[in-house]
Amino acid sequence: MERFRTNELSLAVDFRGEGPAVLFIHGFPLDRTLWRHQVAELTGWCRIAPDLRGFGESDSPASGYSMAAYAEDLLSLLDVMGKQGAVLVGLSMGGYIAFEVLRRRPERVIGLVLMDTRADPDTPEGTAARDLMIATARERGAVPVAGAMLPKLLGEDSLRERPDVVAEVRRMMERTPVAGIVGALESMKARPDSRPLLPTLGGMPVLAVVGEQDRIVSPSVMRTMADAIPGAEFEVVSGAGHVPPLERPGFVTDRIARFLSRV
Ligand code: MLT
Repeated sequence: MERFRTNELSLAVDFRGEGPAVLFIHGFPLDRTLWRHQVAELTGWCRIAPDLRGFGESDSPASGYSMAAYAEDLLSLLDVMGKQGAVLVGLSMGGYIAFEVLRRRPERVIGLVLMDTRADPDTPEGTAARDLMIATARERGAVPVAGAMLPKLLGEDSLRERPDVVAEVRRMMERTPVAGIVGALESMKARPDSRPLLPTLGGMPVLAVVGEQDRIVSPSVMRTMADAIPGAEFEVVSGAGHVPPLERPGFVTDRIARFLSRV
């Protein structure tokens, strides 16, 4: 891990390899280690996996969270690392942030992998659930948030058969700073509708990937999103839930590598 200063914050970043950049954007309430297998194994590319502000070992200011702030942090990180363009790989909230980068600086994006994410904004019920989680985090910290998220994040196969992955994901969530949890939930609540962006992505290589057992973003939601992007590839990861990079790491790395070979 190295630290990079961007937009007055210090971000913790894992990076390996030479060549064109692949920027991995983690979901909520996770951190850069979500991508540890892909960072280790996706040779031929410069793999960059930061902790977003408020997560992992990056700074977690008391305020200043928004999709715009996450996107600007990442653009600034690419500047600092001397990378003009990058393939963005975003999981769930990471996908929402990838959409924000595309709205701001589409010329910096040379390919896009959308994983277990959605383009539509929160429903009123979704917003109310986030408000409850914000109250829980403020009153009782990250541990009950992790407890509530865990059964939704992992597929039933992982919950039953992969105690190592269950423990790893739980640890990742439990160490997330409360300011980062609250900031991310407020940012997701306020995120814009990204559906108008989808038909405009036709000139770009796009891969949509979803876990077969994802309870947060179903394969049918992802399929509808992929169908709205001209030429997008679509892949369902069997036996995985909402976090395929840890649940089926080898398959995910190979599938991304196959996609990258045509970027
Ligand atoms: C995530 O995995 O990033 C979150 O589940 C996304 C969300 O809550 O909308």
